Amino acid sequence: MLTGKTILVGITGGIAAYKICELIRMYKRANANVRVICTKNALNFVTKLTLQNLSQNEVGVEEFELDEYKPEHISYADEADVMVIAPATANTISKIAHGICDNLLTSVVCAFRKPIIIAPAMNCNMWENPIIQENLHKLSSLGYKILEPDSGFLACGYEGKGRLCELEKIFKTTSELITTEKQQSSPDFVFISKVEEETSAINLAGKKVIVTAGGTIEDIDPVRYISNYSSGKMGLAIADEAHKAGAEVVLITTKDFQRDYKIVKIKSALEMQDALDEEFTTADYIFMAAAVADYRVKNVADQKIKKTSDNEFTLELIKNPDILAGLCAKRKLLMTDFGDEAPTIVGFCAETQNLIQYAQNKINQKGCDFIIANDVSRKDIGFSSDENEVYIINKNLDVKKLDKQSKTIIAKEILGEVYEQSRNLCNIG
Ligand code: CTP
Repeated sequence: MLTGKTILVGITGGIAAYKICELIRMYKRANANVRVICTKNALNFVTKLTLQNLSQNEVGVEEFELDEYKPEHISYADEADVMVIAPATANTISKIAHGICDNLLTSVVCAFRKPIIIAPAMNCNMWENPIIQENLHKLSSLGYKILEPDSGFLACGYEGKGRLCELEKIFKTTSELITTEKQQSSPDFVFISKVEEETSAINLAGKKVIVTAGGTIEDIDPVRYISNYSSGKMGLAIADEAHKAGAEVVLITTKDFQRDYKIVKIKSALEMQDALDEEFTTADYIFMAAAVADYRVKNVADQKIKKTSDNEFTLELIKNPDILAGLCAKRKLLMTDFGDEAPTIVGFCAETQNLIQYAQNKINQKGCDFIIANDVSRKDIGFSSDENEVYIINKNLDVKKLDKQSKTIIAKEILGEVYEQSRNLCNIG
């Protein structure tokens, strides 16, 4: 499958380095030419000889180690079709994010003009460090493909997020990137970011945009909760794009995002409702991208619930308010207060079947101006994916499809459509 392709594997100094031996074998089995470069620290975890045997190529470590003159970072960068950095330590990620080139691997990255995949692996506290998150976000927005680590038991003894993601995921992403049409048709294809980085087509200066993102968290007791798989990425992308377009942005979210606009961190649906009530009356646009739990636990236990001898356990749930429908109703009541300035309200709808039909029903039931619908039964888009494919439905029930794209581009297109269409539609719900 990868015949004729060269994959450049960059290994940095983390315990997961040993797993990369198997990744190299997977690429070799798919007929790829594999070149490997390591940081010095990586060689504490895996030997040069092992990597050399598995890749059947010289392994690069030092920048100036060859007798014959050949600027190594340029030649590695020119030869490969894709670069995969796995495991990527917090140190290397931060260096790359700041353009530092103090070893062969970081120099190659700096000179590389094809797609780069970064698969981080580190201690969970390092992963959560806002500086590392900011560096990762910067890289992601520049078009580096970040494969988020998995959660679980870590080699350092901690339990949490930081384990190198599955090798199959790295392999699949590599294959997809290497065989995309863009990659084949344009050898100079740099990053999707070249498109994403374009300045916003719309101007939201003077407008206030509220976005909700992430799945709400409904406590069961002090150590357990009910939630869902929403990653908050789509809402975050909309908030970022609105910010780029000059809007005053308020992101109400259950996730630990760090941005230089206002973020209101909440947990439950009720907290989300309170936060929205605070901001609602001064908003111009509201994007309800959060996955709100329809039910919460009726009696949240003060202490940890203990196991009993019974085989069954029943949790009594009570309905959460429909925040979106509530906002639309309040808007209608307050129409005279808003004058011509009533906010445009956009709902989101994630379905596993009858997507358009359910979305059209929801726009009627809830009274919002638009519904952005996406199919969460598909593994390649939606929830934790970096890509999405959505349908924009307005209150005349017109449907517009946005083809599969990165969530950043989808966000930009959603903003553009909502902005343009809402100027022609009346917002009374
Ligand atoms: N929503 C909300 N409050 C709720 C449930 C959903 O504000 N209690 C919002 C979501 O933020 C989203 C939209 O309503 O913008 C649609 O959410 P969805 O979960 O698809 O719809 P539900 O009304 O919950 O319907 P169902 O779960 O039965 O599909």
